[in-house]
Amino acid sequence: MPKVFITRPIPQVGIDMLKEKGYDVFVYPKDEIISRKDLLKHAKGIDALFCLLTDKIDGDVFDAVGRELKIVSNLAVGFDNVDIEVAKKRNVIVTNTPGVLTETVAEHAIALLFSIARRIPEADRFTKSGKYKGWGPMMFLGSDIQGKTLGIVGLGRIGGAVADHMKKGFGMRTMYHDTKRNIEIEQKLGLEYRILEDLLKESDFVSIHVPLLPETRHLINGDRLAQMKKTAYLINTSRGAIIDEKALVEALKNRVIRGAGLDVFEFEPDLTADLAKLDNVILTPHIASATEETRGKMAQMASQAIIDVLEGREPQNRVV
Ligand code: GLV
Repeated sequence: MPKVFITRPIPQVGIDMLKEKGYDVFVYPKDEIISRKDLLKHAKGIDALFCLLTDKIDGDVFDAVGRELKIVSNLAVGFDNVDIEVAKKRNVIVTNTPGVLTETVAEHAIALLFSIARRIPEADRFTKSGKYKGWGPMMFLGSDIQGKTLGIVGLGRIGGAVADHMKKGFGMRTMYHDTKRNIEIEQKLGLEYRILEDLLKESDFVSIHVPLLPETRHLINGDRLAQMKKTAYLINTSRGAIIDEKALVEALKNRVIRGAGLDVFEFEPDLTADLAKLDNVILTPHIASATEETRGKMAQMASQAIIDVLEGREPQNRVV
């Protein structure tokens, strides 16, 4: 029976699908990021690898697995953790889980936007710590959202959903930047196209939705942060390394921009020094797709890809 290795406990529905097929399924039992040593050890001789964005799947892992490996199914839409070139060379199929998480991630980006603009976590800490001594006209002044300009960097599914909701629901003016201009979606969603520099200059809120590629690493660096409005907020639910996190800490300290809402970090799970000390940033631990419903659907999708490949069918979400 084909051997499937799942690198960490996942929603049971995904495990059951594989077990029902009679596969020899091994789930790494600890609910923590698997060590490199254990990843290499348990990957030996498997037919399918069900992995997570925290697992670096590089040449050494492909070497450790051996020739039987047919598919690497990544439980994420982003797949920058998998060495695609090596997979191609070895004829190993790589799949991801797009679509099912679009609305959930968009909701989290919007939640961060509201939370930072209205200072919700800061006000929550203040109130719970007993500091609230009565209403004040100058207390916790935030920023309106209605009628402001939202700049989307990366007009994929998630970026499009954020723009659509904020335009329809909150009357935001919406603009986007992408390497490719998409007139059809632009017209459908009522977006304005901008080169990145102009988008940064004009937006009150900038939300990042590009994949991590060599070209997008540090796309938002110190110079780009300086192009933003002093009153602007930056939201990131894509990958941490899109932003030069050290430059962002400096920009937040020096009020180059007003605030940021981050779900992803350049060196996660580590945070750049001082990031967690700032009041004008809110941080969540890479949970944008973390709802019961969506994680269940992601697990099903990732397992289905394994079943398809092991049964000789083309999987739905093949990246190579
Ligand atoms: C999460 O970060 C994902 O890429 O799905």
